[in-house]
Amino acid sequence: MAKRKAAILGSSGMIGQRFAHMLDSHPYFEVVSYCASDRSEGKRLSEVWKLTDVPLGEDLGQEVISPTDPAGLARRGVEIAFSGLPSEVAGPIEDDCADHGIAVFSNAASHRMENDTPILIPEINADHLVSIEIQKKRRKSGGFIVTNANCSVTGLALGLKPLVDKFGFKDVDVATYQALSGAGYPGVPSLDIQGNVLPFIKNEEEKMGLEGRKILGQFSKGRFVDSPIQIHASCARVHVRDGHLEAVFIRDKDIPAKKEIARTLAQFRAKPQKLKLPSAPDQPIIVREEPNRPQPVLDVDAGSPERAKGMAVTIGRIRTDKDCLRFYLLSHNTIRGGAGGSVLNAELAHKEGVI
Ligand SMILES: NC(=O)c1ccc[n+]([C@@H]2O[C@H](COP(=O)([O-])OP(=O)(O)OC[C@H]3O[C@@H](n4cnc5c(N)ncnc54)[C@H](OP(=O)(O)O)[C@@H]3O)[C@@H](O)[C@H]2O)c1
Repeated sequence: MAKRKAAILGSSGMIGQRFAHMLDSHPYFEVVSYCASDRSEGKRLSEVWKLTDVPLGEDLGQEVISPTDPAGLARRGVEIAFSGLPSEVAGPIEDDCADHGIAVFSNAASHRMENDTPILIPEINADHLVSIEIQKKRRKSGGFIVTNANCSVTGLALGLKPLVDKFGFKDVDVATYQALSGAGYPGVPSLDIQGNVLPFIKNEEEKMGLEGRKILGQFSKGRFVDSPIQIHASCARVHVRDGHLEAVFIRDKDIPAKKEIARTLAQFRAKPQKLKLPSAPDQPIIVREEPNRPQPVLDVDAGSPERAKGMAVTIGRIRTDKDCLRFYLLSHNTIRGGAGGSVLNAELAHKEGVI
């Protein structure tokens, strides 16, 4: 079967570079256009590359960045756009792509809370994908937008899903230690973060509550119904390159034994594993027993097979009291919480025949 033609929007940014790496030699998709702003027009990917953990192949490095022109992409037969655009500009550009019949898989916040747009995490809410049928009717072009969650919500929601389903927990507190790459490039000024922790990330705590409820909720009778879960977040930026670490506290009057919690997390499997999607990790949640894990430098790339590196969430230091469950959780913010999440969403949409 011929590969589907794709474009990357924001290809010079942190998420865009992850897209370029993850989509290089992808079994379903072929990137035919690397787009960014006029500032990057004509540059080669090798001139903007900032990822230090993956090699930039010679051919990929030679790809030339073009301006972002949705009508031009549609004329070239592009069916899918992977968006790593900043939220300030993503709204109208992604709409323009969708209105030209392109399926957009976005990392930006712009469309996440719309009534006919899913915040998709295939292990949690693959059934929310049907909401795009309503969106397709509205747009009349065949195009649509699917979003993925804010990077700090993604890992948390994955860790909560099996626990909420089995034990019905509704009251969650979380304190985050978020990596620098989460702020894009060039991100936080070095003098603000060197040897320091910044206890404020604009809009992040609100997003964790709002998006978490939509993701863990239902899509029923043509509309999204929020989960009753309450997520109270405190978010901080720390001097780490990649990987958001989160301290999670779940309060309930009846906390199960630690062994049962660990087993429930480690045994969790869902639709992407059943469908064997190329970027799906064999085991979405990895439970560590060591007292000093997870750590960003050791665990950020968790996930197998090779294509799913960085797609698994790692949970450790599970502790139970009578009325409180505590653990640490780590996920890769630009892979599972960013580009990898969108690629997995597109793989699901392709496999389900909606693109
Ligand atoms: N970083 C993360 O961990 C993470 C995780 C999840 C979601 N997100 C979201 O993903 C998006 C991208 O984040 P990022 O960290 O990759 O940001 P970034 O490093 O700042 O990259 C932004 C990209 O967008 C392009 N761009 C900016 N303005 C544009 C315009 N007017 N027209 C066309 N292209 C434009 C930039 O091109 P130039 O280089 O030419 O300016 C660059 O390629 C944001 O919405 C962010 O909130 C980020």
